[in-house]
Formats: sequence, C-alpha cells, structure tokens
Amino acid sequence: MTTLVIGAGLIGSQVARILTEQGEKPVVMDFAPQPKALSEIVALDKLTLVQGDVLQPLPLMGILRTHNVTQIVHTAANPLLTLGAQRDPYPAINLNVMGTVNVLEAARILGIKRVVVSSSSVLNHYLEGGEDDGVFGKEEAFPRPTTFYSATKQAVESIGLNYAKWCGVEFAGLRYGAAFGPWSGNGGGGPSNIVREAMRRALAGEEAVVPPGAMEWVYSKDAARGTVMALQAKALGSRIFNVTMGAITTPAEMADALGKAVPGARVKFEAPAGAGISLSNRQSSGDPARAKAVLGYEPQYRILEALRDLADWMKRHPQ
Ligand SMILES: NC(=O)c1ccc[n+]([C@@H]2O[C@H](COP(=O)([O-])OP(=O)(O)OC[C@H]3O[C@@H](n4cnc5c(N)ncnc54)[C@H](O)[C@@H]3O)[C@@H](O)[C@H]2O)c1
Repeated sequence: MTTLVIGAGLIGSQVARILTEQGEKPVVMDFAPQPKALSEIVALDKLTLVQGDVLQPLPLMGILRTHNVTQIVHTAANPLLTLGAQRDPYPAINLNVMGTVNVLEAARILGIKRVVVSSSSVLNHYLEGGEDDGVFGKEEAFPRPTTFYSATKQAVESIGLNYAKWCGVEFAGLRYGAAFGPWSGNGGGGPSNIVREAMRRALAGEEAVVPPGAMEWVYSKDAARGTVMALQAKALGSRIFNVTMGAITTPAEMADALGKAVPGARVKFEAPAGAGISLSNRQSSGDPARAKAVLGYEPQYRILEALRDLADWMKRHPQ
C-alpha cells in the first residue's frame, strides 16, 4: 500500500509524519517543495519527495503509476485560501476545482481505491440565503457560499461525492477548522500565520495580536490525524466530515490560553493587518458527531494544548 500526499504544507507535512510513524513510506508531492520546512516536521529519508503539479494530469498519472499509489490525500490549495481567492479568483478556482478533478479522474482511471480531500469549515458559515428552507424546486432551497474559496470547496465536495457514487472512488471531504500548528515555510493560510505571529511575539516578550472574532480552530496535528483516520477507516461511506476542535474559541479564551502557554504574554485584540475576510466571528461550531462515529476522530488538542505544543515547537525551531 502506498499513499500519495499532495501538498506538503502545514497539514500535508503532518499527514506525512503520521504515516511515517506508522511505518509507511509515503510519496509526498508538491508544486514547490520546501524540504527545509518539511524536514522540521518529518524525516525526509522516511518519505519520497517529488515535485509535481495537480494541474498537470499526465505527469500526475505518471507519479501514481511509477510509485504504485493505492490511496491519495489531497491537500493542495491556493495561497492564502479565503483571502487569496478573493484577491485573485481565477487561479484559485482553477487549482481547487480542476486540481481535485484531476486527482479524482486519475483515481478513477487507475482504480485507486480511496481519495481524501481537504475541504473547509468555511462551508459551515460563509453562507447566506437558503430562505426556501430545503424545499426542492425552489430557487433558494439551500444557503450559498459567499466567498470564492468556499464556493470552490462546495464544488469539490459535490464532485467528489459524485465520483464516489458513479465511479467507485471512495471519497472523504474533511472540513477542517481554521488550522494552525508547527510550520516555518510558506503557506498555511491567513489564520495560521496570525497565530504563528502572535506566538512569535509572545515568546519574544512583545505584545501579541489576537483577532477580535470567535473562531473555530483545529490544530494541524489533529487535522492530519483525522485525515489519516479517513484514509484508513474500514467503512467510510464516502462522506463529508467536520474535523475541528469541536468548539469555537472566543478572543478572551485565546488570550487566556496564550497567557498560560507563555506566562506573562501580553495581548491586544485587533484584526491583524491584511487579514480581511479570512477572519470570521463564529457563533457555534460544526457538529463533530459524524467524524467521531465513523472515523473515531476526537480532537486531542483544544486551544490551550495546541498553543502549548506550538510554543514548545517554536522554542525548538526559532524563526
Ligand atoms: N490552513 C487552514 O486554515 C485551512 C483550514 C481549512 C481547510 N484548509 C484546507 O486544507 C488544505 C491544506 O491547507 P494547508 O494550510 O496545509 O495549506 P498550505 O498552503 O500550507 O499547503 C498547500 C501546499 O499545496 C502546494 N500546492 C499549491 N499548488 C499546487 C499544485 N498545483 N500542485 C501541487 N501542489 C500544490 C503548495 O506548494 C503548498 O505547499 C487546503 O486544501 C486548504 O484549503 C486549510
């Protein structure tokens, strides 16, 4: 059994680490690999790192064939996620939608059993409409995504479920919360960079900036653990799963946890410059019940454990 992990960033690197810890040698593919940052998460001699582009279907098929890949985790997405797609929609739509279609189509042609794809909890809240209340035949039966990024994730989920239904490719779409965790490279999305910068400042004795809205977070190690669980679940049922901390974190809770993770940390509440629409103000979290029942996923890191782990990692890997 060989797993291809597409996208070696914040979450893909952790997926690769877990697989190697289980004794597998995954193939890790990225358009622009960052071996130094990756090596801080997972030993490079325990995986096969290849350069490859999900938007190039024939070379992708070549990689799948050469390495006898039997299952795929697909985590590649546009830079800066929500914010990046609002600034520059076309490449984000192309990468998120057609990149995933290329992966699913390659899996269909080569008979690859299972594909696990990163979706996002933005689909639980960047929504409006739905005033026709689920009544089929009415134009606004369901809420619609309100950003380009969430529209791409909705398309990805729907297309993936149809590959499962009609083509026999087992599919899981995982709705991660806003993710953060150990990672010194480029990428990771707006919210993760905000937490990294807040932690950097706290550790340096500077005032840390905490966004003023409540957020539904997931620690990258948990996001990756849920992903591997979806990859290995016996009866997956080809579904969508919420993979988050299972709770929202208010700014006050974030500041409190930061103060406990880094005693003496000073905090101010402010929208970090340039964060724009990528920061939300959530009132409730996604329902974690299905991920628990089908995958056995429960978060190991709530906000305090996550910030403690990140503080520990950043002390050992000064930026
Ligand atoms: N980070 C978050 O807050 C968050 C939250 C919810 C969902 N997600 C989703 O989780 C997934 C992983 O997010 P992340 O934070 O690890 O992202 P990341 O930016 O850290 O990593 C993505 C990787 O994909 C690579 N990539 C980009 N284009 C590619 C291409 N054409 N071919 C191959 N590789 C390509 C990038 O080089 C990058 O290393 C994404 O699908 C994202 O939409 C992330």
